[in-house]
Amino acid sequence: MSAVGIVAAAGSGLRLGADRPKALVPLGGRPLVAWAVATLLDGGVDEVVVAVPAADHDAFAAVLPDGVRLVEGGATRTASVRAALAAVPAEAAAVLVHDAARPLTPPAVVARVLDALRAGAPAVVPVLPVVDTTVAVDAGGTVTAAPDRATLRRVQTPQGFARRVLVEAYGALPDGVELTDDAAVVRAACVPVGTVAGDERAAKVTVAHDLALAELQVAGVPGPS
Ligand code: CTP
Ligand code: MG
Repeated sequence: MSAVGIVAAAGSGLRLGADRPKALVPLGGRPLVAWAVATLLDGGVDEVVVAVPAADHDAFAAVLPDGVRLVEGGATRTASVRAALAAVPAEAAAVLVHDAARPLTPPAVVARVLDALRAGAPAVVPVLPVVDTTVAVDAGGTVTAAPDRATLRRVQTPQGFARRVLVEAYGALPDGVELTDDAAVVRAACVPVGTVAGDERAAKVTVAHDLALAELQVAGVPGPS
């Protein structure tokens, strides 16, 4: 099964507040986007398309391996993935969409996603259990509901899809509708989304604290026992 990886890397990283786009911020001396691309290739995808900020094409090209295709991202993640998807060859059977902001995702997560697609799943996401009691609140902050956490999962990337399923779902999504992940796009098209085990190391780098934790991971600092 031929599989193409898409890396969404066109965000600016406002919450991280670095001096450059988040995907170019170094972790262990290597930009986040380079970690994300390596994870996909090590996990078994055949080629990678990266959505980058239009103004930073050359800076991204300089830190990525030959053969990785760069496309101009959009103003939102949905627009960036849409642009990258248009550059995926029609011969590809599967597409895995990954966030540059999840640099330390183990390749084994990629392999689990690919295995599920090979077994026939149209869509699959890596997930982790929710360990805290999780509540809904109203505008005033008052708790309105406490869903049974046994039924809840935290969703990570890479998310895998049969290419045709993802292309059709993006095609059916009206312009201007922005969703936070790609599973939401296919669910809007009534496609069932399966799950495989995620990994805590696939945590998203959003704020400076997350980057500091990732640096500790790279340095091999053992966590509390
Ligand atoms: N992303 C993208 N195109 C956008 C916005 C986001 O490709 N227009 C990507 C980011 O580069 C990131 C992933 O989507 O790898 C997840 O988004 P997020 O963590 O929110 O990153 P940013 O949007 O860059 O950060 P912030 O929201 O803090 O500005
Ligand atoms: Mg964002």
